[in-house]
Amino acid sequence: MGNSTGTNFAVRVSLIAALGGFLFGFETAVISGAEKTIQSLWNLSSGWQGFTVASSLIGTVIGSLIAGMPAQRYGRKKVLLVIAFLYLLSAIGCSLTSIWELFILFRFIGGLAVGASSVVGPMYISEIAPAEIRGRLAGSFQLNIVAGIFVAYLTNFLFVGMGEDSWRWMLGVMVVPSLLFAILLRSIPESPRWLWINGKPEEAKKIFERTGDLQAVAEIQEETSSDISPVPEKLFTSKFRKPILFAVLLAMFNQLAGINAILYYAPRIFEMAGFSQADAYLQPVYIGAANLLFTLLAMTMIDRFGRKKLLIIGSLGMILFLGLTAMAFKGDMAGNQLVLIYLIGFIAFFAFSQGAVIWVFIAEIFPNSVRSQGGSLGSFTHWIMAAIISWTFPIIVEGSPQGGYYSFLFYTVMMVLHLIFVVRFLPETKGKSLEQIQQELGIEK
Ligand code: GLC
Repeated sequence: MGNSTGTNFAVRVSLIAALGGFLFGFETAVISGAEKTIQSLWNLSSGWQGFTVASSLIGTVIGSLIAGMPAQRYGRKKVLLVIAFLYLLSAIGCSLTSIWELFILFRFIGGLAVGASSVVGPMYISEIAPAEIRGRLAGSFQLNIVAGIFVAYLTNFLFVGMGEDSWRWMLGVMVVPSLLFAILLRSIPESPRWLWINGKPEEAKKIFERTGDLQAVAEIQEETSSDISPVPEKLFTSKFRKPILFAVLLAMFNQLAGINAILYYAPRIFEMAGFSQADAYLQPVYIGAANLLFTLLAMTMIDRFGRKKLLIIGSLGMILFLGLTAMAFKGDMAGNQLVLIYLIGFIAFFAFSQGAVIWVFIAEIFPNSVRSQGGSLGSFTHWIMAAIISWTFPIIVEGSPQGGYYSFLFYTVMMVLHLIFVVRFLPETKGKSLEQIQQELGIEK
């Protein structure tokens, strides 16, 4: 591995790209605090209210689906800059508008940015990071997501007392990180692996020299047999069966844990458990803090223990706490304040495992020639599942007295299947170069 100046450079540019994750987390969580005032402002029925909240999720699905193409054609850095601009536009638009249709449009634009950054952010980082610290650097994307979630819950809590315009402040404060993201992005180089496969190996080598990653140069040279650029390939061929299967399944299981249903509806769950409404803005702050803390812990371990061990420990913990939550829903929920402990336990194990691993893994499992399409596929699967899980949760919970029990029982069973999948099938990618991973998956050059 390279010298420490090289490492510092890799860390700095990765952290800048990871700011897209901070905005992703903020944009995802902020609405939970603003939605009630927005509903009364525009006098929305519960159906239109659901649509207002979901408009950003529709954006994420589309954003993740289409981002791979421009990232492949114009480069990762240019797309990151567009993403920063979209975040900025969404923050300004959402906080200033008085027209509901425009609000929907700006939320949708924010969603596009979230979906696109979940593809391009981790992709850029995994392509510039030296193998030994790739887990930690790509994991910093997730760290930024959870920091964004935490800050959004916190600013919601701080702004909630500001009266009827509080929601404008909650949403508008996102202008600050968006601007910072746009400005800092200008100082990062293009992804060296993208440059290489797009016929600029000399420029790519200069960047690898700056990150001190000479091993990468040797391995890409071997993969591409000297300096000839490989033609970008089609993703859906039997050759890429394994990475496709792993990315899709991991992304599905990520959401089948129920994480986003819990993040979006935490206040509702706490109210069912008999907590006062006044606590509804404070409890998400605890959830956000636990999420942040355990993601930090995972970062210190991901390159040492590997992705697989983290996922196994996490599954066991998630099965336990989801199971306990299910049982709590089955019995007398009112007054069952243990639910707060169960949900914090669940979030801690999720953050330590699935949360820390998903974006790292999706970005590193595909070969250079199809990474942008593969990354899109993984993120797209994640966002479709996020939409399904967060739409069905309130319907099931309200629709039947046992709805909460069945939802959590379902998530528990899914995590048992996840555990089996990880133990039996998932390959370990820790410490290997992206090119070595391909060899082990049996993908020939
Ligand atoms: C992961 C999930 C994302 C979730 C977040 C919560 O990034 O993929 O959907 O919101 O963790 O910490």
